[in-house]
Amino acid sequence: MILITGGAGFIGSNFTLDWLANPDAEGVVNLDKLTYAGNLANLASLKEDSRHIFVRGDIGDKELVASLLKEYQPRAIVNFAAESHVDRSIHGPAEFVATNIVGTFNLLECAREYWSGLDEAAKQAFRFHHVSTDEVYGSLSATDPAFTETNAYEPNSPYSASKAASDHLVRAWFHTYGFPVVTTNCSNNYGPYHFPEKLIPLVILNALNGKLLPIYGDGQQIRDWLYVGDHCSAIREVLAKGKLGETYNIGGWNEKANIDVVKTICSILDELKPRVDGKPYTEQITFVKDRPGHDRRYAIDARKVERELGWRPAEKFDTGIRKTVQWYLDNPVWIEGVVSGSYRDWLSKQYS
Ligand code: NAD
Ligand code: TYD
Repeated sequence: MILITGGAGFIGSNFTLDWLANPDAEGVVNLDKLTYAGNLANLASLKEDSRHIFVRGDIGDKELVASLLKEYQPRAIVNFAAESHVDRSIHGPAEFVATNIVGTFNLLECAREYWSGLDEAAKQAFRFHHVSTDEVYGSLSATDPAFTETNAYEPNSPYSASKAASDHLVRAWFHTYGFPVVTTNCSNNYGPYHFPEKLIPLVILNALNGKLLPIYGDGQQIRDWLYVGDHCSAIREVLAKGKLGETYNIGGWNEKANIDVVKTICSILDELKPRVDGKPYTEQITFVKDRPGHDRRYAIDARKVERELGWRPAEKFDTGIRKTVQWYLDNPVWIEGVVSGSYRDWLSKQYS
């Protein structure tokens, strides 16, 4: 077995589906708290698959995590569980400290104790893969080189600070205890099952619902977009071949300004699902108050993972974004399930 945490969220569910698409793959114990961001509908296709065991629970729950490790004896842990939304971390940072820092600490401690009791062969084979973000490196100017693995950590938001703290814990568990870890720091993901609080799915759904498309500040902030399927393949490579104690940057080589991302989505929708009045979706764009402390630019230098492990993303932004828009058009039932009362409450809190 492998233990996946946060496997009902956006990236974790894509990873679980991808992993189990291989008939020879090890089974998955999926530990997820099912916060507002966790959604079992993402995993509906695994309902009849006995290789997938879902457990609702918190990575910060010591008894639960210890008992799962004892019962299922996983060969690896892939830690996706986190509070992941920068805007929510500005409104309420406490959950970010609780899950991203204290939760990761608990997971590390439970895993270390379990690992210490394994026989030598199982100990050698064991991996703890921590999934992190490029946001720990802070913000780049337009001309700075992209982030490499040796950049200093300069997190600017409560979210990125909490992820940076978790990365430091993971690093320390390797250096101090010899605990077998690898960490990946990836750029902004996009693709199927993305919760519509984040830019790309929010814009697709707002456009289709005739709502405004909110762009923070001047819309010239740059993100490096990584198709979620590419991220999953990178994690599989690093889990299989990554060097213990190392970190690997994972990026899409797709730097785009927010305004250009939104315009691209509008033009794909103009083609696939034209507005009934025949006008372009760009008419719905509106510039709103900027995010406090908004990082200007993120860019990942992903040459290390290519050089050492032979991984490169397969998807270009133009192809990935088209697939993504098409997925949202094809999945109205999934959308219906996520736009609940609590989602509407968030929209009115953030955008009113
Ligand atoms: P997400 O918010 O969609 O999903 C997070 C999942 O974790 C949810 O299913 C939630 O229920 C679960 N969870 C939250 N707290 C938990 C807890 N205490 N115990 C167990 N489960 C808990 O996030 P995502 O976008 O899928 O991100 C996954 C990981 O990748 C996170 O660690 C995030 O920091 C990192 N990351 C994401 C992106 C991105 O663009 N989405 C980019 C870089 C890094
Ligand atoms: P987001 O998807 O929240 O990811 P992150 O903050 O982790 O990069 O935001 C991506 C970019 O889009 C970021 O620069 C903020 C911007 N943004 C908007 O302009 N409007 C919005 O409504 C949202 C949610 C984000």
